[in-house]
Amino acid sequence: MSSAISTDLPLARRRILLGVTGGIAAYKAAELLRRLQDAGAEVRVVMTRHAHEFITPMTFQALSGHPVRSALFDPAHEAAMGHIELARWPDLVLVAPCSANTLAKAALGLADDLLSTLMLATDKPLMLAPAMNRLMWAHPATQAHAATLAARGVTLVGPGDGAQACGEIGAGRMSEPEAIRDAVIAQLAAPTGPLAGKKVVLTAGPTREAIDPVRFITNRSSGKQGYALAAALRALGAEVTLISGPVNLPAPAGVTRIDVETAEQMLARAGELAPSADIFIGTAAVADYRAAEVAVQKVKKSADTLSLALIRNPDILATLRAGRPDLFMVGFAAETERLAEHARDKLVRKHLNLIAANQVGDGLAFDTDDNALQVFWSGGEQVIARGPKAEVARTLAGLIAHHYAKATPAA
Ligand code: CTP
Repeated sequence: MSSAISTDLPLARRRILLGVTGGIAAYKAAELLRRLQDAGAEVRVVMTRHAHEFITPMTFQALSGHPVRSALFDPAHEAAMGHIELARWPDLVLVAPCSANTLAKAALGLADDLLSTLMLATDKPLMLAPAMNRLMWAHPATQAHAATLAARGVTLVGPGDGAQACGEIGAGRMSEPEAIRDAVIAQLAAPTGPLAGKKVVLTAGPTREAIDPVRFITNRSSGKQGYALAAALRALGAEVTLISGPVNLPAPAGVTRIDVETAEQMLARAGELAPSADIFIGTAAVADYRAAEVAVQKVKKSADTLSLALIRNPDILATLRAGRPDLFMVGFAAETERLAEHARDKLVRKHLNLIAANQVGDGLAFDTDDNALQVFWSGGEQVIARGPKAEVARTLAGLIAHHYAKATPAA
């Protein structure tokens, strides 16, 4: 009975080698281990020496049911499973929290302890969840290492923004255990879930409309809600493509990302993908207008006032709807007033199946980590309470899957 249930779990029979490095977020790795086990994974733990300063190996040994290893040359452990054997054992090597030091070692290929040796000796996918002080994360050396790793196909999960253990605020916090587990599922799980086999296309982020070679019109969208939604839909089994305006975010694990700049480019890529899509979601804050003429040379200041002629951009959702009346479409509406009225109007005007509306301001929506949504459809609505964007995204993804199934019973 229990084995029948466990094989249904998204990480059933999957082996994960969890590397824990020294940082205050190490305590969250215990929670992460449990979340991975809840999803069906078998987990073994390797700790760096510094990690021992933050959490004891006994915690991970008790939770994983296996001895925890730290030393490269430990005859007793090497006799049981040598480090090369250990490097072959997992389906994924996950380092969480990943310190600046371990991230640098991974980028450079250094192997001076057990964990860094395993990262070099494995041919399995590597996923890192960085956690460090914001200045260490922002340092050009760390950023260069992160870019090297991303280019090599290593998945970086986070880091997130917010209050840090050192009392500072900024990017560097380890992603929450649930978000890391979802990234692991997205990377490893055979697509199961309510959206398995479904193609979902999302737009996300702002668009950027040039005025001249050095200036452009854009907006405050960070892309965070759209990226979080892409990850949540992937976790429900969907094959997700993200058409993204310029944002400072890594692509979620298992999601295909296409970069664009302008509304017209976004429409062109959306138009290519829409014919084969099952669900199309517009989370992008598309610039409604662009410069009527883009100056070839930098515009010089002369008069005290300057007028800029703008022309309407095409509406991406409306254009796609005209070509695919049957496509399940979800829109977003960011509003500063009369939220329900404007959202319902857009639902009808753009012939959408669902619209997710958010009130802008009060620490919500644009360029923030929290959001709250009110979702409308013909004949109903639901409030998604204020919370981190990843959590809001999971609820919204579930709602989209539910309404999609209702709208396409035969699919
Ligand atoms: N949208 C789009 N193409 C545009 C503008 C908006 O596809 N050129 C999509 C957005 O991605 C979002 C929805 O339409 O899903 C609503 O965007 P919003 O800017 O709020 O709506 P508008 O129709 O532009 O209305 P207004 O700006 O007047 O509020």
